[in-house]
Amino acid sequence: MSKRAAVIGRPVKHSLSPMIHNHWLAQYGIEGVYDAIDIAPIDLQERLRQLIDEGYVGFNITIPHKVSVMDICDEIDDVARAIGAVNTIRISNGKVHGSNTDAFGFTENLRDQCAGWDPKAGTVLILGAGGAAQAAVYALKQAGVNDIILANRTQSKAALLGRSVPWEDRNSVARDATMIVNTTSLGMTGQQPLDMDLSDSRAIIYDIVYRPLMTPLLRQAQDKNLPMVTGLGMLLQQARPAFKCWFGILPDVDKALQEKILKAAA
Ligand code: ATR
Repeated sequence: MSKRAAVIGRPVKHSLSPMIHNHWLAQYGIEGVYDAIDIAPIDLQERLRQLIDEGYVGFNITIPHKVSVMDICDEIDDVARAIGAVNTIRISNGKVHGSNTDAFGFTENLRDQCAGWDPKAGTVLILGAGGAAQAAVYALKQAGVNDIILANRTQSKAALLGRSVPWEDRNSVARDATMIVNTTSLGMTGQQPLDMDLSDSRAIIYDIVYRPLMTPLLRQAQDKNLPMVTGLGMLLQQARPAFKCWFGILPDVDKALQEKILKAAA
């Protein structure tokens, strides 16, 4: 029987997840479909129950439901609990299992693009304090990073995640950081660029924004010959364990998929 999975969010029209998962379903000859389903926050519980009754095997959960969906889960794994958000749901015997693959995606993408990265090299500066920053903090700690500093426009949110500095002080931390990670929405198409002074930096610049792929921050890093990590790989990598939990195979990100997604995100 054909298996169904879907990404649930609002808005969800521009999600690249259907393209990724349907590519893998075809590649591995699995009978299945992956949809995008737009659900308003107020309808989440009822609609999710309906979809489970219809036989869906699982879901990706995206903005704005990643935290509220936790109330609907029968079980939440340790990673999702630590991050405080669920981005993947697996249905088994009618029970709702929540997990989070964003930290996996963050680390795999970093190792892919910076093979020699040393977690013990020194301070990592994280810009932002939303869900993506939470996943990055978890991933970096798991990888063995001891020295993380967060800077966020609203410092009180950063302070909840770890050691923090005021937003205005981000450049003084950046000077000595070995990696700078942008998890804010700054630099996204239609948003202001992230204003950073990289003149004295020797850090790896990791931007999780992928629309555009080369954000103003990454262009600045490129001009200064700094090592860079682009964001699209995190999206591709976080999808792999989700696919595995529904369809049983840990898929590869091949060239064809990379090119397809690059084109769609452009
Ligand atoms: P996500 O879950 O994807 O991380 P989010 O929770 O909306 O998304 O977080 C967005 C991040 O971008 C936040 O850290 C936000 O800062 P605030 O916590 O102060 O809102 C940051 N951000 C958004 N617009 C910003 C701006 N103009 N200047 C600085 N930071 C900004």
